[in-house]
Amino acid sequence: MGATAEFVPRMIGIICNWCCYGGADLCGVSRFQYPPYIRLIRVMCSARVDLAHILRAFSNGIDGVFVGGCHLNDCHYVTNGNYDALGMARTCSKLLQLVGVNPERLRLEWVSAGEGVRFAGIMNEFGPRVQKLGPLGSSEGIAPEELQLKLEAATRIVPYLRLALAEKLQAPRRFRASADPQTGLDAFYAGAEFAKLFEATVADKLAVSEILLLLRAKPLSTGEIANSLRMAPTDVSRHMSASSRQGLVRFDASRGCYSLARVG
Ligand code: FES
Repeated sequence: MGATAEFVPRMIGIICNWCCYGGADLCGVSRFQYPPYIRLIRVMCSARVDLAHILRAFSNGIDGVFVGGCHLNDCHYVTNGNYDALGMARTCSKLLQLVGVNPERLRLEWVSAGEGVRFAGIMNEFGPRVQKLGPLGSSEGIAPEELQLKLEAATRIVPYLRLALAEKLQAPRRFRASADPQTGLDAFYAGAEFAKLFEATVADKLAVSEILLLLRAKPLSTGEIANSLRMAPTDVSRHMSASSRQGLVRFDASRGCYSLARVG
């Protein structure tokens, strides 16, 4: 569905204090204009932005999220937090895609304190782009209840994803020492290796999380679960067998339904 001209998106920008916020400030004192519907939140480093913050924003109906930090290797902390922010944002984009949310609704950029023009340019590009995408959910063809369930299911696996980001999903550290880390990292996150790692690490976890949330309401058969979550029945059966073995669900043979082994 296309956006109407009247649609005004709700957008937030979570930006680091030391560079991007300085750029936003310079943009302001220079009187450069950008869409007023983008509200800024200042954090000390882009590494402070967590998957849970972004998912919570979308759960609360935010149509677009911007994350801004210092340029790579200019982070003001010895841990170079913007590398973590990059991994988090690229992982979150893939997660959003899996959930059915257009990943273009999330954008990460580096802006220095002297780049007021660049900050205004990004805002003036990103704001109208989200406006053109239209309201979150309805533009993607997802009913509000389904979107909430999927975002909640994704939020529930965030603790696991944090561990995965620190280990399996982490970009090779050699990029940090290279002359052009951005190019190498962009290629890594857009490449087949990261896609395969993500698929192997996250897809099944998210599917099980969605099924368990669905079963909170009432017991369901394999076909009903597959219909509700638009999954293949064979995949649902596979997830249910694994979840039964782990003691998460039980099968009522007389009714042909699965239910949660423990409610809560
Ligand atoms: Fe700006 Fe870390 S202080 S990204």
